Amino acid sequence: GPNGRVLIVANRLPVTAKRHPVKKWEYPSSSGGLVSALQGIKDVQMMWVGWPGVSVPNETDQTVITEELFKRRCVPVFLDEELMDQYYSGYCNKILWPLFHYLGLPQEYKINKAKGIKSQFEAYTQANQMFAETVCKIYKEGDIIWCHDYHLMCLPKLLKQYNINMKVGWFLHTPFPSSEMYRALPNRAELLEAVLKADLVGFHAYDYARHFVSACISLLGLEGDLDGIQFDRRIVKVDAFPIGIDAQRFTKALEGPKVKEKITEFKKLFAGRKVILGVDRLDMIKGFLQKLLAFEKFLEKNEELDSGYKVVLLQIAVPTRSDVPEYRKLASQVHELVARVNGRFGTLKATPILHLDQTVDFDSLCALYAITDVALITSLRDGMNLVSYEYVACQESNKGVLILSEFAGAAQSLGAGSIIVNPWDIAEVADAIKRALDMPTEDREKHHRHNYELVSRHTAQDWAENYVCDLYNATSKAPLRA
Ligand code: UDP
Ligand code: G6P
Repeated sequence: GPNGRVLIVANRLPVTAKRHPVKKWEYPSSSGGLVSALQGIKDVQMMWVGWPGVSVPNETDQTVITEELFKRRCVPVFLDEELMDQYYSGYCNKILWPLFHYLGLPQEYKINKAKGIKSQFEAYTQANQMFAETVCKIYKEGDIIWCHDYHLMCLPKLLKQYNINMKVGWFLHTPFPSSEMYRALPNRAELLEAVLKADLVGFHAYDYARHFVSACISLLGLEGDLDGIQFDRRIVKVDAFPIGIDAQRFTKALEGPKVKEKITEFKKLFAGRKVILGVDRLDMIKGFLQKLLAFEKFLEKNEELDSGYKVVLLQIAVPTRSDVPEYRKLASQVHELVARVNGRFGTLKATPILHLDQTVDFDSLCALYAITDVALITSLRDGMNLVSYEYVACQESNKGVLILSEFAGAAQSLGAGSIIVNPWDIAEVADAIKRALDMPTEDREKHHRHNYELVSRHTAQDWAENYVCDLYNATSKAPLRA
């Protein structure tokens, strides 16, 4: 097996460099599923390469940050503000992210701004080049290079140009859309060809892998199937590797004094009320508006139960990508809707929605997962959705109900233990909330048991081991089939 290091290359490092008035710099953990999942990996010699989360023009600061990050096994790629704007806020999050989640390309790019997309794509390739240069600087023979996500689709090609013998894998944490969606992308062929330079291409679900293979067949005219794609006189392996979490990290935390204290505190705070929990980055793919409309409908339909029910929707809305105008617009739409529902159904004693534009620390998050009665996940599309896994991991004593969108990758694994909903069907989601709150203990136990087995058995560690092992075994010069 592999005995070198695994170099994890992802746009976002697991810690973010943040300006601090006294200490000058601090290094809080980053948010998001990719970072959580990869942090669940143990027993592998890892090194991270990525963007430190902030632009640092000053070279002295760059040196300080580089040294501090090195202690955390991270190597920073410093990208200036303009490049970040075009590459990250632009090409990654205005074009690839919405397209991969079936939201299409932004209207204004479709017709007029062909030039705009070109410069953003140039920024994208340039940023990928800078990641490649950093990887090459630290690369040692025997290392395995694992590139992550839609930010770095050019990276396999750039790395193989540098050294054809490098073992390079690429993994996508988002859905890969149907080729009917993907084909709208002006750079569709170039990106597929760059990814196909990898030795192993991985996805969270078979559907995503299948879509990728179809795109290669129909847009590049290649031959292939789920066993691999023939490209460049070799066979590129494509497969599904559904991710998991480190469930023990959560169950252990629940036993600790800090989380126990928080549990007592929160239980007191919400005494006599049923709590529905939402934890999502404030992103359009999470279906915030649909969730709020469904909750409003639930309140409308169950008005007579008000004093008996006393239900609160506790929504943690983790701030994200606020330099992208669409995200700022979503935030104000969400706030307007929250205010409407609270104005309409609130009383002097309580408001039905508690919405926080904040991150929560790990201990509080565990406590919230543990004490709440229902988790409500309404993603319109979602690569996997780890929040659903984490909720299950923390519900051993409570056996709360998971309401899960059929459009989250997690629905394929947690489907049988959840109430599956179409988030676009507001009435269906409203009914699901009622069903979840009324579910008899026996059924809740059965549902939870199914989900818990899966979440505790299928770990992030297994996921990473499987992938790295397959990457190691994928020979880059696999013979062509007859
Ligand atoms: N999370 C976080 N900060 C918070 C709340 C949650 O980092 O304040 C984590 C959460 O524990 C989970 C991840 O963010 O691991 C979200 O992952 P998910 O796959 O659900 O969605 P993504 O954000 O990747 O789209
Ligand atoms: C998703 C993406 C990750 C990303 C995360 C947070 O999980 O797949 O690549 O890191 O969201 O988004 P951000 O833009 O803040 O890195």
